[in-house]
Amino acid sequence: MSNVLEFRGINQSFGGIKALSDVSFDLAKGSITGAIGPNGAGKTTIFNVITGAYRPDSGSVKLNGQELLGLAPYRIARAGISRTFQNIRLFPSMTVWDHMLLSQAPRTPMLGRLIPARKVTERAEEMMELFGITGVRDRIAVSLPYGVQRKVEMARAYAMEPQLLLLDEPVAGMNHDEADHLREVLLGLRGRGLSIFIIEHDMRFMMALCDEIHVMNYGRKIAGGKPSEIQSDPAVIAAYLGEDA
Ligand SMILES: Nc1ncnc2c1ncn2[C@@H]1O[C@H](COP(=O)(O)OP(=O)(O)OP(=O)(O)O)[C@@H](O)[C@H]1O
Ligand SMILES: [Mg+2]
Repeated sequence: MSNVLEFRGINQSFGGIKALSDVSFDLAKGSITGAIGPNGAGKTTIFNVITGAYRPDSGSVKLNGQELLGLAPYRIARAGISRTFQNIRLFPSMTVWDHMLLSQAPRTPMLGRLIPARKVTERAEEMMELFGITGVRDRIAVSLPYGVQRKVEMARAYAMEPQLLLLDEPVAGMNHDEADHLREVLLGLRGRGLSIFIIEHDMRFMMALCDEIHVMNYGRKIAGGKPSEIQSDPAVIAAYLGEDA
């Protein structure tokens, strides 16, 4: 299987803090890959490097063979990478429906002329259906419970028709049933050929979802492999339970 993303030899420091130390991994096309690790391990920093929010000190990040480092974030988004945020970022006074339409604007600068409006509204409806938010279509997005806001963010990100979707702690704020539903949705998206890279602390969720998981600790990748391999890795157990465990 070929790789959708190659993240190689990345170093990222902030003053004296090394947020990422020589981190490398590949994301297989059409797979769901996870990143786990304790707080401050460097997981969100990986997303910020991939999306161009941070410029690392060294390394390479390639999407389908194309170097992304040095590109502006909007170019990386257009190249096919969408994300959600650990701290939800929705527009304050806009409805769910507004978010669905606006998310498609970057790809359709002449909205209404080059692309028929019907295609845009159809995709918006499809996204809401997919993530189970049709019932809150006309609500102000930020007034909704956190779990629902996360779904709005994911629907918005997927509406951009990415090749790679980055999800930063999507289950935070969701109950058990919502998490189970989300897992089914994400497996369905993988079935459509989408590649997904997900950060999440909920192990039960991750073990049942991911094809491969990379484990971060203090800015280093300490393990990577199938969920079953990760679970029994002594370095992973030590990182989570402390060296004495
Ligand atoms: N813009 C920044 N400026 C300074 N330090 C930063 C910046 N971004 C990240 N860091 C630091 O880099 C380290 C890794 O942070 P990061 O947010 O990637 O961790 P994380 O694994 O996502 O943690 P959490 O599970 O708590 O979200 C932390 O020490 C953090 O304080
Ligand atoms: Mg984080």
